[in-house]
Amino acid sequence: MAPNYQIQTMANSADSRIEKVLFTAETIAERINQLAFEIDTWYENYADNSVPLVLVGILKGSYMFLADLSRALNTPHHVDFMSVSSYEDTQSTGNLKIECDLRHSIKGKYVIIVEDIVDTGRTLAHLQKLLSNRGPYCLEVATLFSKPTERVIDVHVSYIGFELDPPEFIVGYGLDYNEHFRDLPYVGVPTQTAILELSHK
Ligand code: IMP
Ligand code: MG
Repeated sequence: MAPNYQIQTMANSADSRIEKVLFTAETIAERINQLAFEIDTWYENYADNSVPLVLVGILKGSYMFLADLSRALNTPHHVDFMSVSSYEDTQSTGNLKIECDLRHSIKGKYVIIVEDIVDTGRTLAHLQKLLSNRGPYCLEVATLFSKPTERVIDVHVSYIGFELDPPEFIVGYGLDYNEHFRDLPYVGVPTQTAILELSHK
């Protein structure tokens, strides 16, 4: 069960486009270390150690999470990336397009899909189907954020960083609004003014 979160003060946000900070860089780092420990423990105790582990980052949103998770893991692993697009503005279109595929085969490997956020579950359900057809030894999912109340498709996620309830629209630490805010080291909620201003830029 993912821990709930407490709203942080604006103390570490000098960005006027952010209404409130939900997760500081420190909170995120701490949680990622815990997730890495869980994965290491699972690999050490339950996995066949002759089977390689690969982290599959779903671009672009997962790039910071994947970099920090990868560094925090003790288990040797490979990384690969896929790029899919599913969202425009803040509404789900329900469409998913593969823009960039994996470079290497995942056949016979332990695969952990690394996602930024699972919202309706549509993107993940589609990815799980696609990747499980390629014959991985095992297919797991790690997501930094989850909005459990927004699920339309019931997807299984083994590793969840934080659950967002209520399911606010968040940005930062890789997550964007129309490509803005990915570079923030923390995660917060953008102001309505920023949403309006950046909707067509
Ligand atoms: P799903 O298919 O509805 O689960 O959507 C997952 C994708 O929607 C994520 O990978 C994000 O790209 C995007 N998304 C969902 N919620 C948010 C949010 O709060 N902030 C930024 N992107 C989001
Ligand atoms: Mg994503």
